[in-house]
Amino acid sequence: SAAEKGGYRHFMLKEIHEQPKAIKDTMTGRIAKDSDAIRLDDIKLTAEDLARFGKIFIVACGTAYHAGLAGKYLIEHLAKIPVEVDVASEFRYRNPLVDEKTLVIIISQSGETLDTFAALKEAKGKGARILSVVNVVGSSIARESHDVLYTWAGPEIAVASTKAYTTQIIALYEIALHMADLKGTLSKEAIKAIKDEMLNLPAKIEKALGNKEEIQKFASKNSGEKDVFFIGRGLDYAVALEGSLKLKEISYIHSDAYAAGELKHGPIALIEEGTVVIALMAQHELYEKMLSNVKEVKARGAYVFAIAKEGNREVETIADQTLYIPEVSDMLSPTVTVIPLQLLAYYMAVEKGCDVDMPRNLAKSVTVE
Ligand code: G6P
Repeated sequence: SAAEKGGYRHFMLKEIHEQPKAIKDTMTGRIAKDSDAIRLDDIKLTAEDLARFGKIFIVACGTAYHAGLAGKYLIEHLAKIPVEVDVASEFRYRNPLVDEKTLVIIISQSGETLDTFAALKEAKGKGARILSVVNVVGSSIARESHDVLYTWAGPEIAVASTKAYTTQIIALYEIALHMADLKGTLSKEAIKAIKDEMLNLPAKIEKALGNKEEIQKFASKNSGEKDVFFIGRGLDYAVALEGSLKLKEISYIHSDAYAAGELKHGPIALIEEGTVVIALMAQHELYEKMLSNVKEVKARGAYVFAIAKEGNREVETIADQTLYIPEVSDMLSPTVTVIPLQLLAYYMAVEKGCDVDMPRNLAKSVTVE
């Protein structure tokens, strides 16, 4: 009913707007301004445990897998532990090299996805320590794990995941910072600086949510497209994959995401007059590289929609459309950058008259093979 949707036209739109609160809730009690520690009381991992783990696997499906791809960057960057990310349906059938020296992080909104649960049991059977990031309290995955870090996103009804994704990423910052703290790979000051910026994320997301005009303009012009390309580098590449999944799930427009440096190894052959390319430019360190990639696709006739930070404005002279997100450090950018991509998928689907909350052929939680 309309009341359940809180006045929004769809659950997805409501859940998109719930993200500032959801990520705030996921930080409450764990990330506090007045202390320099990260408090993850629910996790029993010790410094000795961490010293034992030579490697971490992150295993998940769908959107949760995309959160895991961002998690790899965060854990490797902050805690200096090698991380491999795998989709659950591949991991469980490839006899992964897992033993007592392995930590497996399982990510799942529902905690009931069959492939993910089977991957958990496979790894646990081989002696791995299981830490799960789950939204539904008491779900199967939560119950089978040695440690659980809950995302406090609240119920997610729309099939296309939004607030579960951003809270999963917040949980992964918390895990990465906790590990960095235990391992001593970051100073107390560095941890505090990241925590302070995390506490500002809800306000930045709120601001990004207020910026819909450029996206609606894009949707009304491009909803008839058959193919859309997303490009990005570093953490933006992980976010591009999620933006592309959102778009195909609910608008049925074929899309793919590419690491921008790979364009020249194949995908650029597909760019012709009018091909739509969404370029994520939120990594300051990689901005110049992205500018070259945007020029490459523009030279072949692409219609480029760039998403950049307020401080990096050069791209607007090259792109057809540019949307600015609030200033945020490269590492903390994914939860902000994904907002316009969620809205873009949403408005494209609405423009096409699709059933946004219940897309064809998809289920909220896949409990069959
Ligand atoms: C289904 C949903 C996706 C979700 C995936 C994993 O495919 O439609 O939105 O990302 O399952 O679900 P989980 O509950 O394990 O995060």
